[in-house]
Amino acid sequence: MTDLYAVIGNPIAHSKSPRIHAEFARQTGEDLRYEAILAPRDGFVTAVAAFRAAGGKGLNVTVPFKLDAFALATQRTERAVQAQAVNTLKFDGANALGDNTDGAGLVADLTGRLDFALEGKRVLVMGAGGAARGVILPVLRQGPASIAITNRTVEKARALEYQFSRFGPVTSGGYPELSGRKFDLVVNATSAALAGELPPLPPGIFAPGALAYDMTYGPHHARFEAHAFRDGAARVTDGLGMLVAQAAESFLLWRGVRPDTAPVIDLLRGG
Ligand code: ATR
Repeated sequence: MTDLYAVIGNPIAHSKSPRIHAEFARQTGEDLRYEAILAPRDGFVTAVAAFRAAGGKGLNVTVPFKLDAFALATQRTERAVQAQAVNTLKFDGANALGDNTDGAGLVADLTGRLDFALEGKRVLVMGAGGAARGVILPVLRQGPASIAITNRTVEKARALEYQFSRFGPVTSGGYPELSGRKFDLVVNATSAALAGELPPLPPGIFAPGALAYDMTYGPHHARFEAHAFRDGAARVTDGLGMLVAQAAESFLLWRGVRPDTAPVIDLLRGG
């Protein structure tokens, strides 16, 4: 029987997830259908109940429902607990397993597609919102030398340091304090691009050979890319690889098969 999955959010029309999962299903020969559900902002629980009643087996959850999905889950993975957000639900009878695959997607894209080993690296994460919180534990698990978290509102970076420092070497501070420091990997987890802005990075923070990883993709990425190259980054990437890789981690959780992300990234870049 064809199993049913979907992405749920508001808005949802521009989600790439249906295309990504259709490709994964074709590639792996898994018998599934994948839809997009637009739920009213106050209607998440009702929409999920209807989806489960129709036989739905799992959901990807996007803005603004990641906290609602966290609350709805009856079981949660460690990475979902630390992210304090759920982007993947797997239904099994009355059980709803909540997971967060965003950080694993970033790590898979770094270590796979980009051949960037995190072990021993000096990592800078810019931003202290949901996107940043979701990736810190999975990156720490790779054994970096350090993770510095910087944010415009310093207290939010401090709170993340407090939460994650028991898992590894995490520090926090404001942007001006980065002056004079060097990083091998700089992750942009801010939403600055949505306002046409750049995070206020002091100049000269890219170590030789450094990679700049922008979680943003699409037209908003260009400004950060230009800035990072100008300031000495050796490589710059957008977040499309992470998007496809987090979807692959969800697919693995649901189906027990890990799809190949490279051809799907190529397909999406092709238009
Ligand atoms: P998300 O879920 O995408 O992480 P969020 O929780 O609203 O969204 O977090 C947005 C992040 O981008 C925050 O860290 C925010 O900084 P503040 O906490 O100081 O608001 C950061 N951000 C947004 N616009 C920014 C800008 N112009 N410069 C620097 N950081 C910015």
